[in-house]
Amino acid sequence: MSNKKIMLSGIQPTNDLTLGNYLGAIVNFVKFQEEFNNIVFIADLHAITSEFKTELNQASLKILKFYLAAGLDPKKTLIFKQSDVLEHTFLSYLLMCNTTIGELNRMTQFKDKSSKIKNANGTEFIPTGLLIYPTLMAADILLYDADVVVVGSDQKQHLELTRNIATRVNNKLKQDIFKLPEPYIAEVGARIMDLADPTKKMSKSTTNKKGVIFLSDSEKDVEAKIKSALTDNLNQVKYDVENQPGVSNLISIYHVISKMSIADIEKKYANIENYGVFKKDLIALVNNLLKDLQTKYNSISDADALKILAEGKEQAKKIASDKVALIKNKMEM
Ligand code: ADP
Ligand code: TRP
Repeated sequence: MSNKKIMLSGIQPTNDLTLGNYLGAIVNFVKFQEEFNNIVFIADLHAITSEFKTELNQASLKILKFYLAAGLDPKKTLIFKQSDVLEHTFLSYLLMCNTTIGELNRMTQFKDKSSKIKNANGTEFIPTGLLIYPTLMAADILLYDADVVVVGSDQKQHLELTRNIATRVNNKLKQDIFKLPEPYIAEVGARIMDLADPTKKMSKSTTNKKGVIFLSDSEKDVEAKIKSALTDNLNQVKYDVENQPGVSNLISIYHVISKMSIADIEKKYANIENYGVFKKDLIALVNNLLKDLQTKYNSISDADALKILAEGKEQAKKIASDKVALIKNKMEM
């Protein structure tokens, strides 16, 4: 690799990708590939932390195809599947040995996800994988000397923990084995909210699919979801998250897709009688975007996708195993 800085990120193959994943994450992965050495992977080991699932290959291929459809170019971006590079689990173990249970217990994502499991099952049966999720994520990042990690705002805490663990291990080994990564959290699109409940983020694992736009949705699905998006009776297109969270979320989506400024969008729809016209234009914007992505997605064969993963595996394994060798050597193990 050249001496450009390294950007690294990944998405879990749990359920279909949403417009939130695309606008908040994938668009930025693509942006980085011109100036950075880009590494983007499919976090399939992370996908089994809340619930132990099998048959992940199809879900992983789907993510890969959407990465490619969105514009990631395997010549510029190293793309691979996490479980293909076993060094991730080895390093995760070493990092776990340098992390306290208290630190992991304090992670907001752990608290949220474990309480959801408790509420759903009425049990205390929380998989340990959920607790150690951040040490696996830290390993993903530290193996490749990432300078920058593109994540949504919900992952910022995991990045801070990664930096703390890295510093701790560097100090113990008396060598800067690990580079300290910086989070990159895009301002626009960082938090697309659920259309039916604009107080929570649009997520692929939400049970009520009415408020979630999937990248594989049909035109009719998109139309129905945006038409029934929760707004208010103020009938003004104004970006005011506190008083008009639903409308503000729709404006954000409009803004990120059209690249029109928020002020211009507000101006364009001043004097409306109801949200109908604004929603109709937004439906067209989203459908154009999805149509383009879906057309590209459908043109990629499974064979081509698998070939990209096989090549990515070789390249990633080389980097990761060099790093592990360095650590083992330093630890005299
Ligand atoms: P999900 O909650 O949809 O399962 P993940 O936790 O797998 O999403 O996140 C994958 C990537 O997409 C992360 O970088 C995350 O921050 C980003 N992301 C997820 N949902 C949104 C959203 N609603 N708005 C913006 N970015 C999002
Ligand atoms: N935890 C991330 C998420 O839910 C996915 C992920 C796993 C990741 N490993 C990573 C993101 C390493 C960035 C870097 O979005």
